[in-house]
Amino acid sequence: MTDPLRVPQGEIELQRYPVRGGELLRAWDGADEHLLAHLAGDDLVAGDSAEGGPAAGSSVPVDLTGTVVIVNDAWGALSTALAASQPILITDSALAAAAARGNTARAMPGASLDVRSPLDAAPASIDVLLVRIPKTLALLEFQLSRLAPSLAPGATVIGAAMTKDVHSSTIEAFERWVGPTRTSRAARKARLIHSTVAPDRVPPSVAWPQTYVVPEGLGRLTGVTTVNHAGVFSAQHLDIGARLLLETAMPRLERRAGRAERILDLGCGNGVLGVAAALANPAAQLTFVDESQLAVASAQATYERAIADRARPVDFRVGGTLDDAGIARESMDVVLNNPPFHSHQAVTDATAWQMFSDSRTVLRRGGELWVIGNRHLGYHVKLKRIFGNCETVASNAKFVVLRAKR
Ligand SMILES: C[S@@+](CC[C@H](N)C(=O)[O-])C[C@H]1O[C@@H](n2cnc3c(N)ncnc32)[C@H](O)[C@@H]1O
Repeated sequence: MTDPLRVPQGEIELQRYPVRGGELLRAWDGADEHLLAHLAGDDLVAGDSAEGGPAAGSSVPVDLTGTVVIVNDAWGALSTALAASQPILITDSALAAAAARGNTARAMPGASLDVRSPLDAAPASIDVLLVRIPKTLALLEFQLSRLAPSLAPGATVIGAAMTKDVHSSTIEAFERWVGPTRTSRAARKARLIHSTVAPDRVPPSVAWPQTYVVPEGLGRLTGVTTVNHAGVFSAQHLDIGARLLLETAMPRLERRAGRAERILDLGCGNGVLGVAAALANPAAQLTFVDESQLAVASAQATYERAIADRARPVDFRVGGTLDDAGIARESMDVVLNNPPFHSHQAVTDATAWQMFSDSRTVLRRGGELWVIGNRHLGYHVKLKRIFGNCETVASNAKFVVLRAKR
């Protein structure tokens, strides 16, 4: 267990999700501390109250009595600290949702957190909007465009991020969808973004989801239109790692066409790997899993555009672990995986470990896990440790395609 978060709202024990023994990474950051101090009227920097007050520690607390909406809380620090205000948490991430629910329940037994997807309808009226800046501008713009029309006149709108993640485009997004915007001075290497709701604003709409067409040289997948919601991985073009995995694995899956294989696209993003597998073998039954709601919605839309057979069984599931996604043990013949190596902006290989060991659990004996990874990540070492074997099937200057057998 890492140190508790100490903020004016209390001393709060927080855990990431999934909970790992010996976890060294904290479940909050300086932006959470900066924002929570400001909300309590206990600013970390002078002149940061909504009224531009004079000194640190002496501003006016923010009124949290109306509808409080928290967006993109990473591990639940904000939702837990503000649980008494019964906030609505809007997050794309199943991991973030599980962390926020768990932390809230531990801090306030009996409390339940209202968690919604970015694709759900916006709350009818919002009095306080607290936005942790997401890793892509596209997702921020999409979220602001959905929520801005619900802002009550005079609503409090505050963004929070580590200073390195606040760009002029971030400020411009708040100006465009909310109104006049200024940033606080930095504290704990973080900044707050204060926006005033402009009463006469006409928020522009955004053009998501977007599509791209799979380029030449990929067999049946060439010409398929992928559908990509805001913030989904490689939303504008096929990832070059995914391309090498497709070039290597699909001819082999094609040779097994006709066999009723159960194939899992783990960390599916827009679903390009699973859709290619479905096209390679019309008898295969596909399951798509991602921890991002927007990714799973994208994969479903890509699949439905590419596969005409409506009667063909297929499954789309949101979950941060394969257990959470409800995938049974020994139920899969093949897992296709292009793992992420960033988790909520922190570089970690914990997700790859999790995905590989989850894959071993859901594969039947003799089943195969196909992985694409950057050479330098050393995934073959992990796969050997978990599966006891690992074959390098293809490689180029940057990537390796690895296969491990259960
Ligand atoms: C590198 S992208 C690959 C996307 C797609 N398969 C492709 O090749 O273009 C990794 C994906 O893993 C998802 N992801 C991250 N952590 C996850 C987890 N714990 N469980 C399931 N998916 C996860 C991300 O949301 C992202 O869509």
